[in-house]
Amino acid sequence: MSEPKGSSGAVPSERLEIGGGTPLRGRVTVSGSKNAALPQMAAAILTDGPLRLSNVPAIEDVETMCRLLRGLGARVDRSDGEVEIDAQGITMTEPNGDLARRMRASLLVLGPLLVSRGEASLPLPGGDDIGMRRVEQHLEGLRAMGAEVDEDEFGIRARATRLHGAHVQLDLPTVTGTENLMMAAARADGITVISNAAREPHVVDLALCLKAMGARISGAGGDRIVIEGVARLHPTEHQVRADYIEAGTFAMAAAATGGEILIDHLFCDDLDQVLHKLRRAGCEVEEGGAWLRISRRSGLRAVDMTTWPHPGFATDLQAQFVALMTQAEGVSTVSEALFENRFQHVEQLRRLGAEISLQGRSAVIRGGAPLRGAELNISDIRSGAALVIGALCAEGASSLTNVHHLDRGYEDLVGKLTGLGASLKLLPAGEQG
Ligand code: EPU
Repeated sequence: MSEPKGSSGAVPSERLEIGGGTPLRGRVTVSGSKNAALPQMAAAILTDGPLRLSNVPAIEDVETMCRLLRGLGARVDRSDGEVEIDAQGITMTEPNGDLARRMRASLLVLGPLLVSRGEASLPLPGGDDIGMRRVEQHLEGLRAMGAEVDEDEFGIRARATRLHGAHVQLDLPTVTGTENLMMAAARADGITVISNAAREPHVVDLALCLKAMGARISGAGGDRIVIEGVARLHPTEHQVRADYIEAGTFAMAAAATGGEILIDHLFCDDLDQVLHKLRRAGCEVEEGGAWLRISRRSGLRAVDMTTWPHPGFATDLQAQFVALMTQAEGVSTVSEALFENRFQHVEQLRRLGAEISLQGRSAVIRGGAPLRGAELNISDIRSGAALVIGALCAEGASSLTNVHHLDRGYEDLVGKLTGLGASLKLLPAGEQG
């Protein structure tokens, strides 16, 4: 098999050279959300005609989902921000193992395949190595709806002649778990109530997409979602919501470099908690609903932060916040409440000269230490974003390897940052910049 190729053309052997020290300035447009697009693509399995999605980001995880759905028998056409999926031809109920193991979101075909095809088999999903990433809430919910589910070290096998509505009380507000159960319930017999549901903007966007397909769903965005199953869902079109994680990443990059940027095509409300922290850290933030302007003219203040399910501070922005706090005056403590192992960026940021110590699930950052360019290795999407921010703040050049992780979740990150005045270059391994 050939090496996976990313949306910006990065292959695993490439490296990214970043020249630091330039404050970001200008305007950047946010792309569609990875974590909204992927479940909506899986939801196409629920209907017997085309689902046309627009504002789909050009990222590697979307390509992986396209290939996974094609492998099941769906027709998938992808062109310039749009994906059309016609699942009528799906006969397979077991996705290709190699594709499924590449990303956690492959798990999202479980509910749709089970309720529409009566069975599904999946290897245990892969994705970023940021914690145990258990799935028992997905499986217990499907069992409550009448499925027979077996799980072993190789994977998950689920069967059901029909699924029925149930009251599913989640132990924790799992995002993909809520999405899987919502999709299954949309075509189950009767009413399903999901309590302690995830409230992330992408959960709301999936509900909107399903409703456009004819599903009866209320309460998405709150912690109790009610779904009345319907016999069939119809073809439709839906625009994928803007990626607030991408927007937050740019906001922190601008704040860290002491720049000023306008971010547009987003929902500022999705970033409430993040913008609150940025203001407390001394940034100036102006919000216009679908755009925001962020600037930082004087020093940054150290601010503590703990990640939390939405509407708390998103774990997917924790690494970037740690990078930001390396530029603040004083000591800040950043705690990770969702994942056990999401501090891979810390060791790499230290290579740049950052003073950070790890204490259990907290990073203690002594801000203000001068950063100098270094050789860095990216281990996952968001750690990668944090290293990019660190490198942008450092004096001199940094060289980042395993750049393909960034391609999984950020559309044209290199192009967008270059457009804001940063100096970035993708180089084949071994070539000097
Ligand atoms: N958990 C369980 N049991 C379960 C499910 C989850 O214990 O059955 C635990 C997990 O182990 C974890 C916590 O609950 O400690 C949160 O996991 P969740 O299920 O909410 O995460 P996810 O659905 O696997 C999605 C995003 C992640 C994002 C998290 C949290 C997608 C495709 N992925 O993952 O995105 O970090 O929610 O918001 O939506 C990323 O984009 O970089 C990324 C990792």
